[in-house]
Amino acid sequence: MHARSLASVLWPVTFVLHFPTLAHGSWQQYVRAPASTLVHPVAILPSYTQGDIKNADGLVTGAATTELTRATSGEIPTLVVDFGQNVVGQLQLEFAGSANGSSQGFPGIRLAFSEALEYLTDRSDYTRSDRAQGDPPQLVTTGTDQIAAKNGPYTWEDQWGCEYDRKVCSDGLHAFRYVRISLDALTTDSPYTSPDGRVDISSVSLRWSGYLGTEATFTGWFECSDTELTQFWFDGVYTSERHRAARATSASLLNKLILHDGAKRDRDPYMGDLAVASLTSYLSHNTSEATLNVLEDLAAHQRADGWIPPASINQYTLQLFDYPLYWVTCSWDYVFYTGNTSYIDAHYAVMVKILDTYYPAHTDSATKLLVRQNGYGDFAFLPRPGSAAYYSALYVLALNKAAELAELSAKTDDAARWRERAAAVSEGFQNTLWDSSASAYFDRKCSGAGCAAHAQDGNSLAVLAGIGNATTASAALRYLTENNARFYGNAFYDVGGEGLGTGFSERVYAFISYFEGAARFESADAAGAVDLIRRTWGWMASQDPGITHWEGIGSNGSKYEAADTSLAHGWSTGVTPLLSSYLLGVKPTKPGFLEWSVNPIATDDISWARGVVPTPYGPLDVSWQRNSEGDFLVTVNPPNGTTGTVGGSASGTKEVRVEGGQKRVVALTGMR
Ligand SMILES: *[C@@H]1O[C@H](CO)[C@@H](O)[C@H](O)[C@H]1NC(C)=O
Ligand SMILES: *[C@@H]1O[C@H](CO)[C@@H](O)[C@H](O)[C@H]1NC(C)=O
Ligand SMILES: *[C@@H]1O[C@H](CO)[C@@H](O)[C@H](O)[C@H]1NC(C)=O
Ligand SMILES: *[C@@H]1O[C@H](CO)[C@@H](O)[C@H](O)[C@H]1NC(C)=O
Ligand SMILES: *[C@@H]1O[C@H](CO)[C@@H](O)[C@H](O)[C@H]1NC(C)=O
Ligand SMILES: *[C@@H]1O[C@H](CO)[C@@H](O)[C@H](O)[C@H]1NC(C)=O
Repeated sequence: MHARSLASVLWPVTFVLHFPTLAHGSWQQYVRAPASTLVHPVAILPSYTQGDIKNADGLVTGAATTELTRATSGEIPTLVVDFGQNVVGQLQLEFAGSANGSSQGFPGIRLAFSEALEYLTDRSDYTRSDRAQGDPPQLVTTGTDQIAAKNGPYTWEDQWGCEYDRKVCSDGLHAFRYVRISLDALTTDSPYTSPDGRVDISSVSLRWSGYLGTEATFTGWFECSDTELTQFWFDGVYTSERHRAARATSASLLNKLILHDGAKRDRDPYMGDLAVASLTSYLSHNTSEATLNVLEDLAAHQRADGWIPPASINQYTLQLFDYPLYWVTCSWDYVFYTGNTSYIDAHYAVMVKILDTYYPAHTDSATKLLVRQNGYGDFAFLPRPGSAAYYSALYVLALNKAAELAELSAKTDDAARWRERAAAVSEGFQNTLWDSSASAYFDRKCSGAGCAAHAQDGNSLAVLAGIGNATTASAALRYLTENNARFYGNAFYDVGGEGLGTGFSERVYAFISYFEGAARFESADAAGAVDLIRRTWGWMASQDPGITHWEGIGSNGSKYEAADTSLAHGWSTGVTPLLSSYLLGVKPTKPGFLEWSVNPIATDDISWARGVVPTPYGPLDVSWQRNSEGDFLVTVNPPNGTTGTVGGSASGTKEVRVEGGQKRVVALTGMR
């Protein structure tokens, strides 16, 4: 949009606006959670049905008992139930009865689960036995869950364990969309189950184990004229919430509310993942307990040298170099979204040790860049030892966030020192990593394989951290558009990344794409940000299993680690905070939204947006609509006790101050 005169007008609430399109909208229709914790399948997939099966549809309609029969030989009776979307919990089978076959034992039932149809085979896409540890292995399933179907009626629920001593075992919790049910038995389960006989099943259902995010639970929401973008916002909420109430394997986290990385696999709360997943949960459900539990638990496991474990996995020993920095940025998010400033004092020493002990010990004194500690990985275990741009860009971001927290706690010396260091690292970064021939940052300044790479994470985070100037920022983002854009998102490496790992220039992480989206909005590149959102989240929405956001996307839009890929990963839900924070434009500028800013940034094809951002003071209600001139008319209804600004440098308009408790309409003209 071309620039016009900078003028803003403040109208009293009596000013009448015409919002014709709003009448169509109703955010409730986009909510994805099941209606109750007892979930039923929506279909039987006929092309997968084989063998002697009567009334297969009964498992969906409930009209008749489904009968699976198999003589000593013959086709294995098999059917596939579809829950319609990715779900999580314990499967329940209601048996009407069974008849033994000719071999010894009850007839066996085997269950294979999968998030996507392409990985639905005679074994699950993932079972815990796939990562079994110990001798003998602690985990005893073998790719499927087994049942010995008793002769009388009863209800079986999938629990982790074995019906008989280490035989006829099941895995318990599963995240899946499809379940393959067959009358069959493992030879290793003999003599307890047999691969023949008859089994009558009267129903299949799921006892939902995640947080049930029904309409009534939402305290924040988002809606805009593009229904697809609106749906992505709610899909992000559904994706991250599926893990909220599950238990951790760590003793200190047992029975506490946490946010898992993914429901299918790992099921551990990872610090980096919370950089996105926590925002999704603050913005939709006003909830922070799970994040606080994880922040405090990982802080309690801080090492003497200041390093913080990324998660509870492997008894808190998994070595990641970047995740302690996310502990700092996540702490900022926690304080600013919840207003709990006592958190700063409670954990201040932890932050000081991360920033003043750990990272200085891993800094190159000449370039001021961080040097990855030997034997350490990062969010994607990338083979890039040394001074990758991403580590130092994230460091600058964390130092500046830490300085803001220090100021709130009147630690002005720390704040000054951290800001000074952030400036020095930024300068070293610019001088060392800027590739003037490409007009983008190198991943690393080195010679040899992989040294020609330019990475999405390093470039996006550099822009977000304010390294360089407006010219280098837009050049770096343009570089990503020209070199990393794929039809399913932006790859985390350009072709130079192939020197680091095969397929690197084809792989997309929605996680890192959150930071690129934010960098684009912050650089007034709404078109680039919205295009990135439509490609990345639009691609996942169009693919099986639909709705939920994947851990990673591989070449040609595939699931990047095949069956092992988690297809519902909270770290990939960045579309939700991107839309609330930039397209609606709401951000906290003081802890707990005591002060806030509203700066909508949108493309011309989006004509209105509205929503609520929950705050500890109550709902912050915002809507905007374009008038025929293309100006934004922003209506703000902020909670009492808060104040904020509408417009300002982010949107390139004049800033207007608004007090809480009064609904205001502000016209933003001259937006860039
Ligand atoms: C079926 O087999 C089981 C296990 O061997 C046995 O306990 C049960 O009595 C058998 N049922 C009938 C009706 O024979
Ligand atoms: C605020 O933070 C402190 C320190 O981390 C914590 O003990 C307390 O429970 C938090 N308050 C709330 C309401 O979560
Ligand atoms: C921005 O930074 C680049 C690279 O350091 C420099 O060449 C350029 O002059 C700067 N532009 C402005 C407007 O400061
Ligand atoms: C890429 O994926 C499309 C479907 O999305 C498929 O039709 C095509 O064959 C694939 N190409 C390759 C090279 O795998
Ligand atoms: C958010 O949480 C606070 C309590 O922490 C509550 O007072 C407020 O009304 C909540 N809801 C919304 C919509 O902001
Ligand atoms: C907000 O403040 C106004 C006065 O400024 C008062 O009339 C109104 O009752 C307050 N609302 C709440 C929910 O406290």
